[in-house]
Amino acid sequence: MDHKRYVLALDQGTTSTRAILFDFVESTVVASHQLNHKQHFPQAGWVEHDPLEILRNARLCIAAVCHQAETKGISPLKDIQCLGLTNQRETVVAWDRTTGQPLHPAIVWQDTRTRDLCAALTTVSETSASLETKPASLRASRKGGSKSPIRKRQRGSSAVTDHGVDRFREITGLPISTYFSGTKYKWLIENVPQVRKGIEDGTVLLGTIDSWLAYHLTEERVHITDVTNASRSLLMDLRSHHWHGQLLDIFGVPKEALPVIRSSAERYGTLTSTECALDGRIPLAGILGDQHAAMLGQACLRTDDVKCTYGTGCFLMLHTGEKRIHSRHGLLTAPAYQLGRDQPVLYALEGSVAIAGAGLEWLREQLCLIRDIQEVEPLARSVPDTGDVYLVPAFNGLFAPRWRADARGVLVGMTQFTNRAHIARAMLEQVCFQTTEVIEAALADLGQETSALQMLRVDGGMTANKLLLQLQADLLGVPVVRPQIVEATALGAAAAAALATGVLRRVDQVRELWREDLVFTPSISDMERSTTAPALE
Ligand code: G3P
Repeated sequence: MDHKRYVLALDQGTTSTRAILFDFVESTVVASHQLNHKQHFPQAGWVEHDPLEILRNARLCIAAVCHQAETKGISPLKDIQCLGLTNQRETVVAWDRTTGQPLHPAIVWQDTRTRDLCAALTTVSETSASLETKPASLRASRKGGSKSPIRKRQRGSSAVTDHGVDRFREITGLPISTYFSGTKYKWLIENVPQVRKGIEDGTVLLGTIDSWLAYHLTEERVHITDVTNASRSLLMDLRSHHWHGQLLDIFGVPKEALPVIRSSAERYGTLTSTECALDGRIPLAGILGDQHAAMLGQACLRTDDVKCTYGTGCFLMLHTGEKRIHSRHGLLTAPAYQLGRDQPVLYALEGSVAIAGAGLEWLREQLCLIRDIQEVEPLARSVPDTGDVYLVPAFNGLFAPRWRADARGVLVGMTQFTNRAHIARAMLEQVCFQTTEVIEAALADLGQETSALQMLRVDGGMTANKLLLQLQADLLGVPVVRPQIVEATALGAAAAAALATGVLRRVDQVRELWREDLVFTPSISDMERSTTAPALE
């Protein structure tokens, strides 16, 4: 048997954790195990996870997959080459450097508790007025210079309108939003006495879920993150890929508490022996935020390749190669990935939609319209259209391209004829409408028409819903392609680890792992399309 074929991935998502063992020779999933964790909603707009539950589930999933592998004649110890880790991004944990214990529940990316903090950050205060993107030599000549036209403008009342949510966009590629991890760190430091004291004493470590898991799952207790996860903080300089000193000052986050930023594919440490039953031999060799991992798992390797992952939220990414394109249409600029320390950082434009699969859960949990998510497709198919009902589940505000933290959900167009099937269908349609809007924004940033899009690669749990994919193809007017391995996120993390350990020798080998499964071609004419889509303004 070729022993260099089995690669493990750990995919820690918003609602569940999964370990998947891939066979890279056959391009198949050999074993997988998934565990859900509890969602905590302590107040309206707050969303928390228990970091210890997540860690426990990660270990249980790895152990279960190792056990399944053994029953198939695969020796976890001898045959598994490496582990790639991928994670829900922007969800933060603070923990004690010595005991490893969390000091507060994890604050999840969907959480909006930092709304006021964000609003305050959009205004330029005295302490932050010196934030500039010019070289230090030019900054020095302006220091304290009230004559400086730049400082004058920042102090004036027009500063907010001039900069607003986009104050840090040139440096970070992001607008100021509750979504990103930086304001969550700030909130923890300002509101949790134990965290504040630990920051003063230097005993607290901060990190996103990748850092939390890497710390606990490695013998070396590494405190690291990768460039993709770090880029979602509002604290990383997109040009240097280092924490940005002035932003750290503005946010009040000391660099010493933050993880070291590494590439997405390198040997970071070795998995602990006792906990993972892997005998301290398997390297942790890949780390990527889940959407970036999905880019790689979808073999989006070239400029203009596009993928959309329909998970809890819905995340579209368009590869822009070595170019950092600053969006003028409400999208984010982010690293796609960096596959090795000496490799270039490649970039992407991203459009994040907050509610996709989470909307189906809301239909089940809060409206009790369905008992099982599987019911959504037949229910939505039982009506030919939504009967003019439109739903916008802006439960935590709207993300790309609008960035409205104050937006809230609406359901409009109902009559006595409206039934639960119309609402279920409207929930699917809203995902497609928002995705289309994001794609249009991405193409506008590139100066292209929607017709320039060749196809959309899709993945994620929600792509089990074929009606959703057909509606998406109809709305976009381009083929929507689902690969055989829909766990593109896990596949991408595994591929990064495989590249770092020599299981894969070249990035383009990822293409051999990607195989088309279903293609959804548009079934309506351009004329019908133009009348189907509601005016988005
Ligand atoms: O940015 C949030 C994202 O990383 C969460 O992804 O797959 O858990 O919905 P998912």
